[in-house]
Amino acid sequence: MNKHLKDLLINFHSKGRRYSYYPSLPDWSGDLDKEFIIDGLDLEEINLYIHIPYCPSLCTFCGCNIKITKAKNQFRSYINKIIEEWNTYKLKNPKISLSSIYLGGGTPTYLELEDIKHLLGSIFDGTEVSPDFIGTLETDPRIEQSKKLEYLRSVGFNSISIGVQDTHKDTLLNVNRDQSFEQVKDLVNHSRDLGFDEINLDIIYGLPFQTEETFKETIEDIVSLSPDRIANYPLAKVPWQMDLQNALGLYKPLGTYEMYDLYIQSDEMLKDAGYNLLGMGHYSNKGIKYNRDITGYTRAKKTSLIALGTSGISNTRDYLYQNDKILEKYIAFPNAAIKTHKKSNREKTLEILFAQINCEGRLRKETLNTCFEENQIEKLSKNIKIFKNYDILVEDSDSYTTTAFGKHFNKTICQTIESI
Ligand SMILES: C[S@@+](CC[C@H](N)C(=O)[O-])C[C@H]1O[C@@H](n2cnc3c(N)ncnc32)[C@H](O)[C@@H]1O
Ligand code: SF4
Repeated sequence: MNKHLKDLLINFHSKGRRYSYYPSLPDWSGDLDKEFIIDGLDLEEINLYIHIPYCPSLCTFCGCNIKITKAKNQFRSYINKIIEEWNTYKLKNPKISLSSIYLGGGTPTYLELEDIKHLLGSIFDGTEVSPDFIGTLETDPRIEQSKKLEYLRSVGFNSISIGVQDTHKDTLLNVNRDQSFEQVKDLVNHSRDLGFDEINLDIIYGLPFQTEETFKETIEDIVSLSPDRIANYPLAKVPWQMDLQNALGLYKPLGTYEMYDLYIQSDEMLKDAGYNLLGMGHYSNKGIKYNRDITGYTRAKKTSLIALGTSGISNTRDYLYQNDKILEKYIAFPNAAIKTHKKSNREKTLEILFAQINCEGRLRKETLNTCFEENQIEKLSKNIKIFKNYDILVEDSDSYTTTAFGKHFNKTICQTIESI
């Protein structure tokens, strides 16, 4: 176990944002009208996020915006609202085209095949699609979805993100997730056979009952499937679900130090298996450059992200805004936003700096100089010196670069820059 890393994680890591967009929600200022924002946009090639909140059963750790239901007859009216929202964008931005679509959730393939066809048929209808289109879906290995995956491949989807979480029956059952490793394996193999060229597996460390031994086996299991990407998430504790969690079984997530042990052990194992840490717990075994957005790390190009559906956060050059998080309210007013923000010039430069650190692994001195006054640069230099002493950053004439070790501290570097 890497004691040096653990000591630094204890010293440097603090709770907070993951810099997948900036500024984060609590710092948004505005109550602008979404219609006003959309009127001012001049959208051409965009990335599209579509939120499908539905799942058949509740995993008690879940921190996503979800609706558990068996009533599949309600899906169509929700999808029609998403289409209504999309048509508003299209009407006002006739040149809009698609660089990527990300179907997130919830569990998008819990929708009926006909609903998925209706949704995507309407989105693609009369809309230009980039030749290097990236289509991604999040899914759950417990869902019967062969026909749906075939359809998604036929309309250009090429990337799949599968929730595994853990491979131990006891750990999974305790969070109300009755899932076998065979189901995961079958879905990975099926996706590969269909030609999905990027397969990501999600796992979570910090769940009740996980130990170094059990989590080691979980890592061995997922590595045995050779996914292209692995997302190793720290359990985000969601207090509003505590009652439900306790009602279903003993729910005692691991403490911070135990979580660091699992993180360090899994990081070593993943690197030994040929995976590189991109940052924030995301790994890839491909030597390609990823961009970072609200969906995590993505092969999609960096451009405006428009989010459709309940709770979706859109991120354009000048604005951030979020759709209503309450499903019923979104259905009533799909073209309303609950919160908005107009980015300042300083925030836009910080956004560029965070992208540099999280995606390129470096901070350009030129960008730092455009963002900060001389006295701020001096203050930052003192912090950078500490990072250099700990082998987190190295300096050359025009930039600071993160070492492989330093990538564990991307968030700390971003927090430091933000605090200047
Ligand atoms: C929106 S879910 C979609 C995946 C799919 N519904 C499934 O469960 O297989 C995306 C991922 O978020 C992660 N996640 C959800 N709740 C979390 C929490 N409280 N802490 C950390 N990760 C979480 C899980 O790893 C999950 O696979
Ligand atoms: S983890 Fe996935 S399947 Fe479970 S409740 Fe959350 S979104 Fe639904």
